[in-house]
Amino acid sequence: MNPAPGANTRRATPPQARRFNRISSRIIAALFMLAGASAADYVSASEPVAQPNAARRSELINLVRQDCGSCHGLTLKGGLGPALLPQALQDKPADSLKATILQGRPGTAMPPWQRFMNEAEAEWIVTNLQKGFPSD
Ligand code: HEC
Repeated sequence: MNPAPGANTRRATPPQARRFNRISSRIIAALFMLAGASAADYVSASEPVAQPNAARRSELINLVRQDCGSCHGLTLKGGLGPALLPQALQDKPADSLKATILQGRPGTAMPPWQRFMNEAEAEWIVTNLQKGFPSD
């Protein structure tokens, strides 16, 4: 269909350009989605393999001594929560202790800690609780 003479001057963008804009905005939207997805993948896929470095280890020690200690006792001998000493934990499966730390125990006072540490860090805490937690 041909526009009436003069109608063209009222058209701000020619059809090809509008089609291009539509396509390019879809590409941009797709790129944003991809970027979002890969950022999320990065967090969940790469964190568990990273071992805590020395600085992070000392943060984790403080966290366990202070935050966990507020329930499990400052010397981890138990309080509101059970003892977290080697005698108490040695024979328990590390995976389930790690899950307890990350997810908490619903219906008990034990809260989930996954917002504050990744899997490798929870694993590091379990390993160290089982063999005797460092004091600093
Ligand atoms: C608000 C209190 C509270 C805090 C803070 C807390 N816990 Fe607990 N935790 C508990 C309680 C209560 C239980 C026992 C849950 C049950 O009855 O099964 C528990 C259970 C556990 C267990 C399982 C012990 C076992 O013998 O099976 C582990 C491991 C543990 N906590 C580690 C931690 C760590 C590590 C932290 C800090 C990162 C922490 N908890 C912080 C209250 C707490």
